[in-house]
Amino acid sequence: MNAQEIIQMEQEYVLGVYTRPPFVLERGEGCTLYDSDGKAYLDCVAGIAVNALGYNDPGINQAIAQITQSGVLHVSNLYHTEPHARLAKLLCETSFADKVHFSLTGADANEGAFKFARRYAREQGHQEKYAILAFSGAFHGRLFGSLAATPRPKYQDPFRPLMPGVRFAEFNDLASAQAQMDDQVCAIIVEPIQGEGGIHPATPEFLQGLRALADEHDALLIFDEVQCGLGRTGHLWAHQGYGVEPDILTAAKPLAGGLPMGAILMRQKVADAIHKGDHASTFAGNPLTSHVAHHVVSRIAQPSFLAQVQEKGRLLMEMLQELNSPHILDVRGRGLMVGVELDQEAGPVVAAAYDRGLLLVGAGPNVIRFVPPLVIRPEELQQAVEILGQILQTL
Ligand SMILES: Cc1ncc(COP(=O)(O)O)c(C=O)c1O
Repeated sequence: MNAQEIIQMEQEYVLGVYTRPPFVLERGEGCTLYDSDGKAYLDCVAGIAVNALGYNDPGINQAIAQITQSGVLHVSNLYHTEPHARLAKLLCETSFADKVHFSLTGADANEGAFKFARRYAREQGHQEKYAILAFSGAFHGRLFGSLAATPRPKYQDPFRPLMPGVRFAEFNDLASAQAQMDDQVCAIIVEPIQGEGGIHPATPEFLQGLRALADEHDALLIFDEVQCGLGRTGHLWAHQGYGVEPDILTAAKPLAGGLPMGAILMRQKVADAIHKGDHASTFAGNPLTSHVAHHVVSRIAQPSFLAQVQEKGRLLMEMLQELNSPHILDVRGRGLMVGVELDQEAGPVVAAAYDRGLLLVGAGPNVIRFVPPLVIRPEELQQAVEILGQILQTL
């Protein structure tokens, strides 16, 4: 089938909730994707901050081959499997957590985190402690609980009523969080670096203040590290760059190298409040995703790998600033999670980049987001920035 036929077939049979550019991606190598006409695209999107190790990675391919040889891709959570146990151990050993529960996506992980927070409150004897405090600009997912904590009218309004009990304060405004806080709040959820909202890092004072507020009210602090976690910022976990620890952390995107997997990491006190049958999933944590995730996390967690992410992140920010474009209002982020705020809509810039063989994605209306594979080479970053510079000159 040629590209036109594939696009027509998708348009005829696939629900039209996405706007896609007019090419068909066929294969990938390193940080480059190729379309069905053989055109190359340098990828600064990475499947939306997923493909941390790039495309056609020999280690991921080998991990998939190993598990395929066992013949056991899935058995459900009714049974013990070694990959599941080993991945949970690795995640606990490389984080603040004592226990892990797996999910399928980022939104799914956040749903579980909300349930665990409410369960924890009940277990402490607080029947009326159910509220969740979230923040302006947040994105936590599109399921009913996570959507309720994602304050965007376009996403929420067509689907009301949403899960009740969610309140909002201003991101990076501790006084606003204090004003919303009381003993009915069972959890505060925050992205240490907001992704979809436009790449906004939390300030250290804000996260420290939220930690203190949660403790004061015996509420749980949840860090949503679905986008900023797992090496993206040059720390294995984004909060490690802040020195503030959560009670629960949600992760997903890069966890299993492109296979769907999320995780809820928690302290023992949370785990102690959750009982058999409280939460479940047919697929989550199956041998296939767990085995591949173990490989991915082992690689990303290496100090030399993380140091390189920090180094390349600094280089990217520097090169973007050196563009000195009048259309760039701000360059911000941490590690290889960088936002370029423009004086106009990001959409046309993303479209122009396709023509020049570069994949970019927006974050909010006027921010270009760089979330490339973490293995991207400095010269590839330079090439990406040069292309962006050329496009900005045409505006
Ligand atoms: C911070 C954050 N949380 C949750 C989600 C939802 O993840 P998923 O799309 O895997 O459900 C996303 C997705 O972009 C995200 O960036």
